[in-house]
Amino acid sequence: MYKIAVIPGDGTGPEVIREGLKVLKAVSRIANFEYQTKLFDFSGGRYLKTGKLLEDKDIEELKKYSAIYLGAVGHPDVKPGILEQGVLLKLRFSLDQYINLRPVKLYPGVQTPLKNKTPEDIDFVVVRENSEGLYSGKGSFSNKGTKDETAIQESINTRKGVERCIRYGFEFCRQRNKRKKLTLCGKTNVLTYAWDLWQRTFDEIAKEYADIKTDYSHVDAVCMWFIKSPEWFDVIVTDNMFGDIITDLGAMIQGGMGIAAGGNINPDGVSMFEPIGGSAPKYTGKNVINPLAAISALQMLLDFLNEKKAARLVEEGVIHTAQKLKSLSAGKMGYSTQEVGDLVVEAME
Ligand code: IPM
Ligand code: MN
Repeated sequence: MYKIAVIPGDGTGPEVIREGLKVLKAVSRIANFEYQTKLFDFSGGRYLKTGKLLEDKDIEELKKYSAIYLGAVGHPDVKPGILEQGVLLKLRFSLDQYINLRPVKLYPGVQTPLKNKTPEDIDFVVVRENSEGLYSGKGSFSNKGTKDETAIQESINTRKGVERCIRYGFEFCRQRNKRKKLTLCGKTNVLTYAWDLWQRTFDEIAKEYADIKTDYSHVDAVCMWFIKSPEWFDVIVTDNMFGDIITDLGAMIQGGMGIAAGGNINPDGVSMFEPIGGSAPKYTGKNVINPLAAISALQMLLDFLNEKKAARLVEEGVIHTAQKLKSLSAGKMGYSTQEVGDLVVEAME
């Protein structure tokens, strides 16, 4: 019996999570597994009403679950940084979800802005470090507010943190068993402390994985290759900030935020799965947002729970449905949010 903690969050989060839960219910029947869900209201809406963000006792509670299913956190009336730090990053950090896994996969019939690229060309996974780097929140101001002000934002890279991420990348690449190539995406030519550590660690660990080809590319070049030759990639491992940036680009070439999902993984603890598109305030409550990204996040969740058959079914449902939509963008699908959820359920059945 799986226990799934559900955090619908803000904006369109609750609308897409509702469709995800509909699909979960259907697939549990078909693939024959049992689960319970519990809803948690960690959101900007609750923060505005109560001043509460995520508390330590909430984290302790969440540790009792098999996985977390998250909609979106972000509210137009809350100053940038508060919810990100106080809810999303707090979840990732305190549950030590040190990997952010983001598949970039173009499904058949889905429009990509890349001319002449097909599903065969766009199929790779970004392994983003998810607990350190520029996201550590360390830094300082001096002479704040004066014309001599300096702001320092520190990127923290520990050998342990870097090594566990790179190791995950190699293992993942081996298990994925496709082109068996792991690309390190960094900036060794400028960031000569952090990326020296990354490169050294990468080269060392690579010796243990003779079956995996290795490669290195600067992050700016990775952006260029995503557009020019995405078929070049299999698995990419990178730090938190670069991973954040390149996966938005990745989402666009796989068809947009309507379909892009990710997993915040703690291989020995509680992992959390989310659509990566955010709370989309402008589409909230209109029944027009695309739930396929949230449904793909559910697929990743099931895969992580080792419900392989269920995960496969959900993916097939998504592939089938994506082909039917006029567009994957909010408001242009030719179907409502709820109808898209229904299409996935029908396809699975
Ligand atoms: C993401 C988001 C978050 C990040 C924000 C909301 C803090 O952009 O999940 O990619 O930067 O990690
Ligand atoms: Mn991002």
